[in-house]
Amino acid sequence: MANFASGDGAAVRWGIVSTANIARGQFLPALRAAGGVAAAVAGRDARRVVEWASAHGVQRAITGYQNLIADPEIDALYLALPNSLHADWTIAALRAGKPVLCEKPLCGTLADTERVLSVARATGTLLWEAFVFPFNEHMDHLRSLIADGAIGELREIQSGFHFAVSDQGNIRLSADLQGGALRDVGCYPVRLAQEFFGGHESAWATRVMGGQPGDDASGVDLETWGSLGYPGDRRLLFSCGMRRSRDTFSRLIGSSGQIRASNIFHPGPADNLTLIQSAIGRSDKVTEFPATQTEPSFTAALRHINAVLNGETAPRLLADQTSLTTARALHDLAEVLAAG
Ligand SMILES: NC(=O)c1ccc[n+]([C@@H]2O[C@H](COP(=O)([O-])OP(=O)(O)OC[C@H]3O[C@@H](n4cnc5c(N)ncnc54)[C@H](OP(=O)(O)O)[C@@H]3O)[C@@H](O)[C@H]2O)c1
Repeated sequence: MANFASGDGAAVRWGIVSTANIARGQFLPALRAAGGVAAAVAGRDARRVVEWASAHGVQRAITGYQNLIADPEIDALYLALPNSLHADWTIAALRAGKPVLCEKPLCGTLADTERVLSVARATGTLLWEAFVFPFNEHMDHLRSLIADGAIGELREIQSGFHFAVSDQGNIRLSADLQGGALRDVGCYPVRLAQEFFGGHESAWATRVMGGQPGDDASGVDLETWGSLGYPGDRRLLFSCGMRRSRDTFSRLIGSSGQIRASNIFHPGPADNLTLIQSAIGRSDKVTEFPATQTEPSFTAALRHINAVLNGETAPRLLADQTSLTTARALHDLAEVLAAG
């Protein structure tokens, strides 16, 4: 794969595609922590993008996403658009030779995911999907506990991601923008299980749909729960939704114990892993590991991408290596749901 590498150790100049909440709330604080320059932001509306840039410390405001993509003073793009727009704008960026960190899910459909990945391969331009938790130290710790046999053989993952959406104009409530709970947050448990089990071989799910025809949330799932089966009878049981208080609890259950993760997806200093080890004839041994995470959760991913773009390290967790498996699982779950 061809590589972008300035090799001069200069700070990577990031361009932000859209004035999204996630760009303000997560990307920019992490970029400050990771190093890198918030060089420009593009939005559809000239006045709004100028105000946003000035309010959030971004150097330049640009009207129109294509103008940012074509800007020679931009090294890499963070694409934070509604899901339905990920594919075409990511492809435009890849064709312009700009490395991309695209928000999750990489695309709203399997067909679009395949289309985007084929352009990434053809252009040789680097592409990451913004599942940032696999880059985090907290996830490394979880991986190492499992790999060291702390709970024996990992058999089942139970994982959820719920939060409450109250704003009826939220992009997550729009079918046209490819919102819905499964795409928005159900993708997290799916991606977590993929880390340990790889590709699924069976899928089952059911859901609660929003609204009546014509309502804001019509045509999107407000809550979905189900399972994915993996080789060796291993499984993910997941639940996701947009109408409960925030809950990102995951439990990884093995043949001789389990690990409870309070928030493996976006851990903060208050989060932890609890290891419970069982043995016949004695009581469970419980060990608490506080998350060492003190940085915004995008920081490790951005530090990695900056290092890759500066030619300091080889890329890992590229979309080409991870996103198709996730998209296939989401696709199969959506097919089961559609079949009712
Ligand atoms: N990785 C994570 O932890 C994480 C967390 C939250 C969200 N996300 C993902 O990030 C993406 C954005 O989510 P968000 O909650 O930040 O969205 P948001 O605040 O609603 O922002 C979306 C932006 O897209 C632009 N846009 C272009 N066409 C639009 C349209 N037809 N309707 C609405 N907005 C449109 C708008 O910017 P302009 O008007 O400036 O062009 C808008 O500000 C989604 O893919 C979501 O899944 C990821």
